[in-house]
Amino acid sequence: MGKMHIKMKVNGEDVETLAEPRELLIHVLRERLNITGPHIGCETSHCGACTVDMGGKSVKSCTVFAAQANGADITTIEGLGNPDSLHVLQEMFKEHHGLQCGFCTPGMITRAHRLLQEIPDPTEEEIRFGMAGNLCRCTGYQNIIKAILAAVAELNAVKEAAQ
Ligand code: FES
Ligand code: FES
Repeated sequence: MGKMHIKMKVNGEDVETLAEPRELLIHVLRERLNITGPHIGCETSHCGACTVDMGGKSVKSCTVFAAQANGADITTIEGLGNPDSLHVLQEMFKEHHGLQCGFCTPGMITRAHRLLQEIPDPTEEEIRFGMAGNLCRCTGYQNIIKAILAAVAELNAVKEAAQ
């Protein structure tokens, strides 16, 4: 099959590459654009390790074809923070031991970031439900939920201080 010219915005930057239309977005990101934060776990839409934000929604990038991503606005974990300036979710995952091997973490945090846009002050139950598509095989979920709740508290405190 012939390659297609794919243009996207990734983490605020315009990028373009050639890819087969049926190539999966996770492969375009990792192998063609060298954006390796999103991970490949199951490649069958179960684990959420490949989660990115696309057009304001969380998507599992192993379920999106390159042709579908053409023209999309995508944010990956690389777009949320960096080692010198961590996102509050990254800080809280670190502080509350929300990761062990870290394999699921980019997907977890990218999903949690979108969840907090969808529900800015979620209950624990809403967090558990909202994160249900992301699996972790080592930490257990308690500290992940704790970390997200701590990020919510931190964001609320910043909002209150600004009022
Ligand atoms: S790699 Fe995409 S959901 Fe597991
Ligand atoms: S921290 Fe290892 S899979 Fe989640």
